[in-house]
Parts: sequence; C-alpha cells; structure tokens
Amino acid sequence: MKIVMLGAPGAGKGTCAKVLSEKYNIPHISTGDIFRANIKNGTELGKKAKTYMDQGLLVPDELVVDLVVDRLKQDDAKEGYILDGFPRTIPQAEALDAALAQINDKIDYALDIEVEDAHIIERMGGRRCCVKCGATYHLVNVPPKKEGICDVCGEALILRDDDAPETVKKRLDVYHEQTQPLITYYKEKGVLAEVEGHDEVTETMAGIYQVLG
Ligand code: AP5
Repeated sequence: MKIVMLGAPGAGKGTCAKVLSEKYNIPHISTGDIFRANIKNGTELGKKAKTYMDQGLLVPDELVVDLVVDRLKQDDAKEGYILDGFPRTIPQAEALDAALAQINDKIDYALDIEVEDAHIIERMGGRRCCVKCGATYHLVNVPPKKEGICDVCGEALILRDDDAPETVKKRLDVYHEQTQPLITYYKEKGVLAEVEGHDEVTETMAGIYQVLG
C-alpha cells in the first residue's frame, strides 16, 4: 500500500503515519524528520535545509526529490510506504509520479487530514518532539508517560524551532499557497480521501481506516 499524507502543518500527518506504519508494517518516510536528523548531525544538507525551515519556508524541490526517490528504492519500501510531508508542491508530485511510472507503479491513497488554521495554531504550541527517534507528543492531547522524556527512547523532548507562533503562521501561508493545490491534483487522479482531523487521534484514525477498508 502506497500512501501520501496531506494536510496543513500540525494536522496530525506524522501522528497518524506512525500508527499506520506499525499496523501495516511499511515504513513511515517523513521528509521533515530526514531534514531534522541531518540538521542534528550537522550535514551539508542539514545546513542548507535549516535556513529555509527556520523561516517556515519550503526547502527547494531539487534538495528533496532525489532524496525521496532514492529512499523509495530501499528494500523495506518494496511492499509500500507512507509518505509524510512529501510531495509538498505540484512539481514534487509530478516528479514522484514520473519515478513511479518508470516502474509501473502509482500512489494508492492520498489522505488529506483536514483541520482549521485556528485549531492548528493552538495545537502547535503544545507539541513536543523527540529529535532522536522522531516520536511526537502533545502536552495535553498526547502526553509522554514521564514529563519531558520520550517514551520510546528516553531522549529529552523539545519544542521544534519552527513551532514558534509566527513561524507556524508563515508555514500555514506557505501550505495554502504551495501544498493545498495537491488536494485537487490527487482528486483528479482518483486517489484522494478527506478525513476529519479535529477530534482525538483515535477518531482521526477511525476515519482513515474507513477509507483504507
Ligand atoms: P514537516 O516536519 O513535514 O512539518 P509539517 O508538514 O509542517 O508537519 P508537522 O510535522 O508540523 O505536523 P504533522 O501534520 O505531522 O502533525 P503532528 O502529527 O506532529 O516539515 C518541516 C519543514 O521541513 C517544512 O516547513 C519545510 O521547511 C521542510 N520540508 C519537509 N518536507 C519538505 C518537502 N517535501 N519539500 C520542501 N520542504 C520540506 O501533530 C501535531 C501535534 O498535534 C502533535 O503534538 C500531536 O501530538 C497533536 N495531534 C495530532 N493529531 C491530533 C489529534 N487528532 N487530536 C489532537 N492532537 C493531535
């Protein structure tokens, strides 16, 4: 099963992708997590990506597309994958489709998690992340067992640099301008499913399972 997660920053793409990845035993591939790991490790890619991410802007397509296409060729992605945060622009979606067409393949589902902007701004202030393993929490909605510590790997949790309210507003503007057109793109391909994302995570997951059958 090949799934693309769509939705605004903070809609819950990563949270739901992790659940799906465990259930279907296919990898969760998050371009945001890949960039954050590169930033943490001080790589050239990380240095370049950080200048855009800190401003709430998208990293240029040429730094993203080959990275993802190469990742999809790895053995663990043979039976499927969940793409989280990619594609994010029409050129990225077209490049992905072209790469898949070369191997007679295509995306099965584009799941759009729908949450209003005002709700997102509220949510993001409470998000805490683990940069080591990529786990995500929320101070109120999805708290870790021990305050400030990752349940999975024991690392200290952080507030992401790009979760400052002003940067979240910028990311939402960028989302509406550059990423939201992908909803029409995937609708025209007949693979779009819209899922309500305002409620509890379990409710959002129930909506997703209804789509996936
Ligand atoms: P990325 O890491 O992909 O960020 P994003 O798309 O902005 O999405 P987020 O990770 O912020 O949110 P999410 O939807 O995964 O929500 P989450 O599950 O965490 O990208 C970061 C940056 O990298 C970009 O700005 C860009 O610069 C760059 N980048 C990445 N990919 C790129 C690409 N392809 N091209 C160019 N640039 C790229 O949930 C949010 C919070 O809400 C959490 O605290 C969670 O616990 C809580 N929560 C989730 N669901 C629910 C629910 N149903 N009810 C209550 N709380 C919930």
